Amino acid sequence: MKNIFLAVLMLLVNPFFSYSQEFSDLAKTPPMGWNSWNKFGCDVSEKLIKEMADAMVKSGMRDAGYNYLVIDDCWQIGRDAKGDIIADPERFPSGMKALGDYIHSKGLKFGIYSCAGSMTCQSRPGSRGYQFQDAKKYAEWGVDYLKYDWCFDEGQNAKAAYKTMSDALKETKRPIVFSICEWGGSKPWEWGEGIGHLWRTTFDIRDCYQCTFDWGGLGILDIIDRQADLWKYAGPGHWNDPDMLEVGNGGMTYDENKTHFSMWSMLASPLMAGNDLRNLDPTTAQILTNKEVIAVNQDAKGQQARRFMDMGEHEIWAKPLADGKVAICFLNRTETDWKLDYDWKKNTMYFVEDVKIKKETYIVRDLWEHKSIGTTEKNLVKSIPAHGVLMVVLSKK
Ligand code: GLA
Repeated sequence: MKNIFLAVLMLLVNPFFSYSQEFSDLAKTPPMGWNSWNKFGCDVSEKLIKEMADAMVKSGMRDAGYNYLVIDDCWQIGRDAKGDIIADPERFPSGMKALGDYIHSKGLKFGIYSCAGSMTCQSRPGSRGYQFQDAKKYAEWGVDYLKYDWCFDEGQNAKAAYKTMSDALKETKRPIVFSICEWGGSKPWEWGEGIGHLWRTTFDIRDCYQCTFDWGGLGILDIIDRQADLWKYAGPGHWNDPDMLEVGNGGMTYDENKTHFSMWSMLASPLMAGNDLRNLDPTTAQILTNKEVIAVNQDAKGQQARRFMDMGEHEIWAKPLADGKVAICFLNRTETDWKLDYDWKKNTMYFVEDVKIKKETYIVRDLWEHKSIGTTEKNLVKSIPAHGVLMVVLSKK
């Protein structure tokens, strides 16, 4: 009764309340899907995207929750006399509406890419000056997700530029998830909620555990470090985006890929696979479709993990979950095994309002071994491999 009263009151005070609630509900949990960029770059085509749609179904990715299929840069080639955006007719001969229909027929959602600047990062036409026209076109094509980049921004104010496209998408009345790809320069976590559903926090990910590039590209460890202080900005409908997954692209070891996937899940990051799903090897499939790890990512509480203990090269991250559970990830940044001997009772976890490990007994479940490994009454003794993780969920006994 109290809730109904509050909702009516909100509607009277702010008639946009229900619409903004609907907008935020489009990404109650971090979006999941596949994006063409990390593996294929500009080599996108209707053939590739259709094959990937088929592969998402066949590989079990769709059923594991990956439902957005996003075509990144290079699908667009110009504008016609009316200013309408044109898809490359050689690469997309059937047109984007037909491709969208195909994607939808597989039980998937259709994502596309554009840029707030005059050109995209690969010098294709951007949306600057065409925001409403482009949004209308996307809606006609059945687009469900827009990733919106920040190249050739020509000194625009980032918040204003993203708000314009957000307004344009909202005007179509089609539910379209809006991914702000501004790389973190203007702190989009401070203004992105309500404008978009997710915002990139760094420059582009590289397929490596630890590496940095002059232009700003980063390996997974540096990206993880840059998320540590951002946890308070994430929540249902609005997520920090540490960039798309490189799992399965060949640049990292098995343990590093597991670390990448585990930490992205802990960070309540969008999970956008970026590898070739048409010949998915069993090891990569096992990582990407680990249901228990995905459940941590998709947890209804929508909290991002915090770095609870920083012991230099050994870290403990904690993510409060619904129903009083907690996900804990022990991260070994070093080149040697971490001989963990962890006394739960000594380490009170006051980081979440309702969890005090000292006072209660929890069951400890290993999310990669898929079994319970004791309770918090006893020390957790495990060897964590170099660059690896131990990821567990604590649930009350
Ligand atoms: C930027 C983005 C990438 C990708 C490319 C495409 O670098 O950050 O994720 O979309 O542009 O050109």
